[in-house]
Amino acid sequence: MAPHTSASLLAAITTWMISGSRASIQRPGLLPTPPMGFNDWSRFECAINQSVFTETADAMVSKGLLTAGYNRINIDDCWMADARTEEGKLTWNETLFPNGLPWLGEYLQDRGFHFGIYEDAGNETCGGYPGSYGYEEVDAHTFASWGIDYLKVDGCHVTPSTEDEYHKRYAAWHKAFSKMSDPLIFSQSAPAYFSLWLTGSDNLTDWFTVMDWVPYNGELARHSSDILVYVGVEGLSGWESVMQNYNYNTQVARYQVPGYFNDPDFLIADNPELSLDEKRSQFALWASFSAPLIISAWIPSLPDEVVSYLKNSDLIEIDQDPLAQQATLVSRDDSFDVLTRSLANGDRVVTVLNRGNSTDDISISALRLGLLNTKRTYSAKNLWTGEFIRFQGSLEIRGLASHATAVFRINLSGPSSFGVSPTGMIFNAASTKCLTAGSKSEEVEFTTCAATDAQVWQIRPLLSTISPLSAPSLCLTATAGKVLLEDCELLKFTQEWEYSVSGYLTNKHTHECMTEMAGASLSECQYEVDSQLWLHIVIGNYLIYAYFLDIPLSLYATERNGVEI
Ligand SMILES: *[C@@H]1O[C@H](CO)[C@@H](O)[C@H](O)[C@H]1NC(C)=O
Ligand SMILES: *[C@@H]1O[C@H](CO)[C@@H](O)[C@H](O)[C@H]1NC(C)=O
Ligand SMILES: *[C@@H]1O[C@H](CO)[C@@H](O)[C@H](O)[C@H]1NC(C)=O
Ligand SMILES: *[C@@H]1O[C@H](CO)[C@@H](O)[C@H](O)[C@H]1NC(C)=O
Ligand SMILES: *[C@@H]1O[C@H](CO)[C@@H](O)[C@H](O)[C@H]1NC(C)=O
Ligand SMILES: *[C@@H]1O[C@H](CO)[C@@H](O)[C@H](O)[C@H]1NC(C)=O
Repeated sequence: MAPHTSASLLAAITTWMISGSRASIQRPGLLPTPPMGFNDWSRFECAINQSVFTETADAMVSKGLLTAGYNRINIDDCWMADARTEEGKLTWNETLFPNGLPWLGEYLQDRGFHFGIYEDAGNETCGGYPGSYGYEEVDAHTFASWGIDYLKVDGCHVTPSTEDEYHKRYAAWHKAFSKMSDPLIFSQSAPAYFSLWLTGSDNLTDWFTVMDWVPYNGELARHSSDILVYVGVEGLSGWESVMQNYNYNTQVARYQVPGYFNDPDFLIADNPELSLDEKRSQFALWASFSAPLIISAWIPSLPDEVVSYLKNSDLIEIDQDPLAQQATLVSRDDSFDVLTRSLANGDRVVTVLNRGNSTDDISISALRLGLLNTKRTYSAKNLWTGEFIRFQGSLEIRGLASHATAVFRINLSGPSSFGVSPTGMIFNAASTKCLTAGSKSEEVEFTTCAATDAQVWQIRPLLSTISPLSAPSLCLTATAGKVLLEDCELLKFTQEWEYSVSGYLTNKHTHECMTEMAGASLSECQYEVDSQLWLHIVIGNYLIYAYFLDIPLSLYATERNGVEI
């Protein structure tokens, strides 16, 4: 296939993804881009009242945050009265909300905000208030009658706490919304209850099983750990908490499409444990992920330096890009994480996080960024400073502070564009090891991620081959139960691979799955087993290309190995 201009290609795909019937998200128009706004939880936990929300709304208007796009105000747990009314309806605590929630809804809407709320799939909320189990339909209508259009459903007190039971409870909400002409946006906390964070088990089968169904059920999933609350708790530091949620999000990238978003939780913009660089990093990383940008902070007192980064329009534009691609990892070592993604106009984003403890420089080759024309001079905008730089061969970043994040937007429009190839790490979320190339006729292995060219893989979309940047003429080849590197040959089925939202990397000839077991082997695809779950790839953008080239790759399978999801 001739290289195409990315802009028209991506625009066509965007249109398809938003309107297309192939995507199984049933209402992609309900939330085409991630939500932005405020939630009280991490900042106030249960210490809420009416004025927290009215004063926050007023401050969001006066500080320009509403104009910047933060147009949702969501109430979290502890807003309810101790019991339902005699008619079995939910009602608010009248001491905390003297004017009532419908009044608050009007107050917010008059100022241009949407109004959101919290409930729980069990009999009680996490804070011990009445849960919604058995009342899903009643409660959905109650919320709608209060002017609410966004609901987060937590998963405390669900018994038995099996994957199957969670599926039933969250499906009941989905069913209730399906009957409404104006359904609520549905944020689901179900996966968090199966993540390592809550189960303590590194068996990820149930976590990914839940991730398989949440995109059918609603628009968002709170997939893992809660971000640190304002009043620090024993355990993780503020930065460790941000990194924990960031890491979980990298493991579920493949699920995100316009209309369904992975939610790594709130922006803790006034948490005293975070430095300004760390807060800015959280914002830049979340924007690179096209994650929800929901601030949990006392906004009336936010200093200008914080308000100003939260309003960075270049980063917000990336967050709200209609393609909704989540940036994925190109490389990782002790110091730097490098992530890339594409935007609807064909531009490429590169995000670089310095996880290390000292200020450092990094040079990233154009090939690692997925840019096929290594001779071209590219123009890139530094989205923190607004400055344009030009580079050829590699992008040089100098003096990136510890825990800071740089973001560049590479301009790929223009006639000389050669397009982009999906390029990045292939790693196992369970073992966190990276697929690593050796030389010809050698088996590939899983080793510690070290940001070498032997760990950066490039897909040739039309051919469906996968080669390491360290040896671009060699291709991953299925050979008698093993995966070897052999000379790339045209139309050789044992060198053709499929990758889908299931996470499996499947050989087209043998129909077996790549497996982390005694090196990298090929074995029968099994249901969400850890040894095959390393295919939380992270080969940036493969889904997009696969669609365009009509590779028979299902964006969302409805069935996997005979098991309905
Ligand atoms: C409302 O809640 C905030 C935050 O907890 C608190 O500072 C304030 O005193 C409360 N206001 C009233 C009227 O209780
Ligand atoms: C309402 O909230 C107040 C303050 O937290 C609490 O003392 C009271 O018991 C609550 N009232 C009801 C009816 O739940
Ligand atoms: C939870 O609610 C369900 C449905 O209303 C009810 O059948 C069940 O007994 C309740 N369980 C507990 C422990 O209260
Ligand atoms: C992992 O969890 C799944 C689902 O609960 C279970 O079927 C499977 O046996 C577990 N695997 C191991 C190795 O324990
Ligand atoms: C950075 O410092 C922290 C805390 O002192 C330490 O745990 C961590 O290992 C250091 N990281 C590196 C890459 O040296
Ligand atoms: C991107 O490049 C094109 C073609 O060179 C140019 O017309 C356009 O102005 C550039 N965009 C930006 C934002 O610099």
